Amino acid sequence: MMRKLENKIAIITGGASGIGKGMAMAFVKEGATVAIVDLNEEIGHETIKELQIYQPKSMFIQANLAEHDKLAGIVQQVIDKFGKLDILVNNAHASKNMPFEQVTQQDFDLSFGTGFYPTYYLMQAALPYLKESKGKIINFASGAGINGDATQATYAAAKEAIRGISRVAANEFGPFGINVNLISPIANSPAVQKWAKEEPEYYQSMLSKIPLRRLGELEEDIGRAAVFLASEDSDYITGQTIMVDGGATKLR
Ligand SMILES: NC(=O)c1ccc[n+]([C@@H]2O[C@H](COP(=O)([O-])OP(=O)(O)OC[C@H]3O[C@@H](n4cnc5c(N)ncnc54)[C@H](O)[C@@H]3O)[C@@H](O)[C@H]2O)c1
Repeated sequence: MMRKLENKIAIITGGASGIGKGMAMAFVKEGATVAIVDLNEEIGHETIKELQIYQPKSMFIQANLAEHDKLAGIVQQVIDKFGKLDILVNNAHASKNMPFEQVTQQDFDLSFGTGFYPTYYLMQAALPYLKESKGKIINFASGAGINGDATQATYAAAKEAIRGISRVAANEFGPFGINVNLISPIANSPAVQKWAKEEPEYYQSMLSKIPLRRLGELEEDIGRAAVFLASEDSDYITGQTIMVDGGATKLR
């Protein structure tokens, strides 16, 4: 049977660990060659070895996405190596939780600088190539943004800004055959595991609000949903936020 992403070239930010790695593993198993972009050099080198078992040409690009003047160069590096780009996944995002009254502009800068701005710059840099490939963009939202979870002001704001530009891009890029969708996940990533240890009560209360009563698996749940949004199976879906969260949030 034909694999769903045969011969596709994908960029996944934050692809060294967590959900990004889960998606990268799911992509290479479906035939895609993946460029993972990550700050963490050590984990990046480990992950790329695992990916290369399935797709030997997959590459690791070490980069800090907060260095915005370098983002166009990341797309260029992928084009220089592979000659095309089919899929852009904007997954990485760093932020800090705190009560609203303590938030400073610096905290907003971290969240927008690592989440919103890289998403915007990479979409813009990738656009000419995605027009050629009639490609797919997958951005990352969060229930924390959609529901306005307490202590998440900077994160929620950046996530909803990402949803805003994704809907605009769906309208503008649709005529070129480019799909722009978002995944709003809940998954068992290192970030969530760390948080579960730090705030066990909050974590338990979150778990009790998930109808399916478990966290998503990085590759099997989030990775497979991303394969769907990256493949021709989703060709008639654009501008949507897909909740891959065990039913925790139901969009209306
Ligand atoms: N895990 C969840 O339950 C959950 C829930 C809602 C939304 N999300 C969203 O899903 C996405 C992935 O989440 P995750 O839990 O896997 O995150 P994570 O923090 O576990 O992994 C993020 C990856 O991004 C990399 N990264 C962080 N800052 C970077 C930077 N400045 N430049 C380059 N790389 C950087 C990290 O090194 C890491 O490999 C994020 O957008 C997150 O907001 C996750």
